[in-house]
Amino acid sequence: YKRVTVKSLIEMKRNGERISMLTAYDFSMAKIVDDANVDVILVGDSASNVMAGHETTLPITLDQMIYHASSVIRAVKRALVVVDIPFGSYQSDPKEALRSAIRIMKESGAHAVKVEGGIEIKESVKRILNAGIPVMGHLGLTPQSIYKFGTYTVRAKEEEEAQKLLVDAKLLEKLGCFAIVLEKIPADLAKKVAESINIPVIGIGAGNGVDGQVLVVHDLLGITQEFNPRFLRRYMNLYEEMGNAISQYVTDVKSRDFPNEEEQY
Ligand code: KIV
Ligand code: NA
Repeated sequence: YKRVTVKSLIEMKRNGERISMLTAYDFSMAKIVDDANVDVILVGDSASNVMAGHETTLPITLDQMIYHASSVIRAVKRALVVVDIPFGSYQSDPKEALRSAIRIMKESGAHAVKVEGGIEIKESVKRILNAGIPVMGHLGLTPQSIYKFGTYTVRAKEEEEAQKLLVDAKLLEKLGCFAIVLEKIPADLAKKVAESINIPVIGIGAGNGVDGQVLVVHDLLGITQEFNPRFLRRYMNLYEEMGNAISQYVTDVKSRDFPNEEEQY
């Protein structure tokens, strides 16, 4: 396997090769995603929703993120593994931010971290980068700020917020971030951002004019059911398929069909 690196991602942008990114939170899923040649695996704080059943990403802890990340790392041979620093582990001050990033890198073996925000977290991003830890930015609909937004609708539709987003993206590039996620913003704005900077822009609900795409793998596979934004393309209905398989198992146990002669010692 030729490993994906932060350098190769920037080369992919230069060569016009689109970048594929998906989440994973555990060993088994990460192995499937990595073997399918996904370029970047994100250990997202969406684990708070998908794995733990919380309503938002806010409750997940740094220890829990490290547990998920170390499980993913043990499965991955090729992809670049990026880990979200969770809410409350980097906003207070740059030293705390660096401490959290170092814990993720040391205790999980991850390759990079992701943080939400622009100018507000400038000093923290600088500090983490100074320690040699690659940082991915995240702008637009940043779920750790959901209580500030009050809604999960599209961000940066108004000129003022769009301008700030463009300035923030340029700042993150200047600081030395290796890529930026843009979540749920108008496609025209996302395209403009991607054309204005030299680091890859990975979109989710940000249209087709960016350098790569990211989805939550459980959404793509149809394991989650209630989440149905316009940007989500479901490739399977695994909720139904898994449910059918499990119901059949229950039927087979009840009817004494399972186990049969060959399935016992
Ligand atoms: O936590 C997550 O899954 C994310 C992606 C949606 C970008 O941050
Ligand atoms: Na996230």
